[in-house]
Amino acid sequence: MGRLISGYAVSQLIYAAAELGLADRLEDGPKSGAELARAVGADPDLLSRALRGLAAAGVVAYDGDGRFRATPLSRCLVSGAPGSLRALARCGDESYQAWGHLVHMLRTGETAFDRCFGTSRFEYLTQQPAAAAVFNEAMGAMLTQNAAAIVAAYDFSRFRTIVDVGGGRGALISSILSAYPAARGVLVDTPAVIADAEAHVRSRGVAERCTLVGADFFESVPAGGDAYLLSQTIHNWDDAHARRLLQSCRRAMAPGGVTLVIEMMLPPRFEGTPADYPLVMTDLQMMVMMGGRERTEAEHRALFHSAGLTCRTVIRTQSPLVILEAGEGPGG
Ligand SMILES: C[S@@+](CC[C@H](N)C(=O)[O-])C[C@H]1O[C@@H](n2cnc3c(N)ncnc32)[C@H](O)[C@@H]1O
Repeated sequence: MGRLISGYAVSQLIYAAAELGLADRLEDGPKSGAELARAVGADPDLLSRALRGLAAAGVVAYDGDGRFRATPLSRCLVSGAPGSLRALARCGDESYQAWGHLVHMLRTGETAFDRCFGTSRFEYLTQQPAAAAVFNEAMGAMLTQNAAAIVAAYDFSRFRTIVDVGGGRGALISSILSAYPAARGVLVDTPAVIADAEAHVRSRGVAERCTLVGADFFESVPAGGDAYLLSQTIHNWDDAHARRLLQSCRRAMAPGGVTLVIEMMLPPRFEGTPADYPLVMTDLQMMVMMGGRERTEAEHRALFHSAGLTCRTVIRTQSPLVILEAGEGPGG
């Protein structure tokens, strides 16, 4: 219990390691606390003690001669490495502060992040470009890991125009357009994120086939697409907002079009086993940061139904994400 009670300390040590870029500095060999402190501009005694904590938690290894070295865990925090979690860890300061308001949220229903920062998560990101850059990088890095599994699991060949709604910097739409050279894409996100997306889409070589649109997706999304993707976007919202988002897509869909919700999915029954840990914690992260939630298949189906859509197919991928395909009209 003592370890669990001080779990926030490990989380903050990892945040500090990510923020200071310690893992990058260990890539070319072991270093003492003083060497690392010089490299990252920190106090040598204090950083050495923090490194002892990271070693005790298994994030770095201690050589016994005063030097710390990289481990498979610390390599997850190396900048720019495939699947790097550094940007995600760098979001840890805001998460930490928001989680401090959990009891208030449980008592009142007010979202912990909003209580802490005086505004919603996405409004905050609009106002804080540096934090937004880190958040968008974190989302892009995680999605890049899963995009191949999504492209492999679903046949997009029948769609001429694919609209990625809340698509961030375009990691998913770029992967789909690369795999389907005849398709055209539309990337929709807030104007601030879209301003940042062009270079990313260009670097993927699909800029000529991808239109970038800054919009509030609750108001409207560009009309006439054959498929509307909502990747890990519905789970950011409570049912009322999620319904409005699905309704925006339904209104915009071309006749015969589909909406594809891509999310992790809660099992129908909660078993309370250690295997539930990642999903349950993600559900709580959505709750604390945005008042959102993860959902079961039945909850997704009910949400589609309330927005005038019918879920027709649920497709598993070789990743934690599933694809729920919905269209207008009767179905399963
Ligand atoms: C959790 S991210 C998901 C990004 C990407 N689809 C993925 O799978 O990683 C949710 C996205 O919704 C965007 N977003 C939030 N509110 C929005 C709004 N009102 N209008 C348009 N985009 C919005 C955010 O900027 C963010 O890029």
